[in-house]
Amino acid sequence: MEKILVTGGAGFIGSHTVVELVDAGYTPIIVDNFSNSDSNAIRGVEDIIKRSVKVYEGDCNDLQFMNDLFITEKNITGVIHFAAYKAVGESVGKPLEYYQNNVGSLMILIDAMKNHNVENLVFSSSCTVYGQPDHLPVTELSPKKVAESPYGNTKQVCEEIIEDVVKSNAKFKAIALRYFNPIGAHPSSKIGELPIGVPNNLVPFVTQTAARIREELSVFGDDYNTPDGTCIRDYIHVVDLAKAHVKSLQHFNNQKTPYFDIFNIGTGKGNSVLEVVKTFEKVIDGKLKYKVDPKRPGDVEQVFGNVDKANNELKWKAELTLEDSLRDAWNWQKTLM
Ligand code: UFG
Repeated sequence: MEKILVTGGAGFIGSHTVVELVDAGYTPIIVDNFSNSDSNAIRGVEDIIKRSVKVYEGDCNDLQFMNDLFITEKNITGVIHFAAYKAVGESVGKPLEYYQNNVGSLMILIDAMKNHNVENLVFSSSCTVYGQPDHLPVTELSPKKVAESPYGNTKQVCEEIIEDVVKSNAKFKAIALRYFNPIGAHPSSKIGELPIGVPNNLVPFVTQTAARIREELSVFGDDYNTPDGTCIRDYIHVVDLAKAHVKSLQHFNNQKTPYFDIFNIGTGKGNSVLEVVKTFEKVIDGKLKYKVDPKRPGDVEQVFGNVDKANNELKWKAELTLEDSLRDAWNWQKTLM
């Protein structure tokens, strides 16, 4: 069984990916510093996979720690690198922390991988690299825009670092997956998103409002140039997203080195904020309290992806609907109440 190191494996996308890796016959090894994740996620994962998973608590920014990990865990064949800070707004006030953590840890990780001849890397990138696209849906060839935030810039810089590393190392294979908006939770309700404090993202705010943790949802702007005036995003179920990482590892087997490629990972379909609200109301069979507030600075009006490349080359396709995602997110929220 191939051993795969999953950095940030206790996080939202990481934990779901660990489950899918086991399902596909891989042995995941988690490294996480638990700075923005919870050890309960590990228990949830173990409950789903019905066995224990090896976890190293530590920081990917620590070269000694990472080197030791690769020595202790012999024969790691690939790495999926999730560990990163992810709050767009926070990054504007803490740029150095974001560059240090997101860019710094990627460089340390690759250094440690090179020291131990581990040459397969799947990287978490984001559709944030497209900014407000000129044409929709965006393809992988759509131009990157000047990043709106240090967070967004870390994703652009990390992609470029990986591409340069691949050019310099004839044996390296890497894929950057540009995620659209991950939502939902595992259908077992044993793992899901665990936002700390007031959620920035739409769906956790929606579920917390329905759970009466929040008074009401603020819809940020209803006079955008979209059919109902609210912003449009490509919301993808986290389990579908997790499976794209497994497909990426499998895809490496058929590629000649050096290899680097980028894939959009979304549903290919855009939904507005009000469509999310309406679909959620269908799921709970009730009303969600919301009001319209001013636009949130930095929000792009609409973005959704063309996902043909992932469909054709990775043989991956999103299978779950927006309603599935919101139902699973709501079932997960209910376990937290
Ligand atoms: N929104 C609201 N009310 C809220 C929260 C969000 O109306 O309380 C709206 C936003 O204005 C936006 C949509 O819901 O139109 C989605 O917002 P999210 O914060 O959930 O997601 P973003 O699209 O802003 O950000 C996400 C990820 C980022 C990533 C970005 C790429 O969280 O990490 O997609 O576009 F960079």
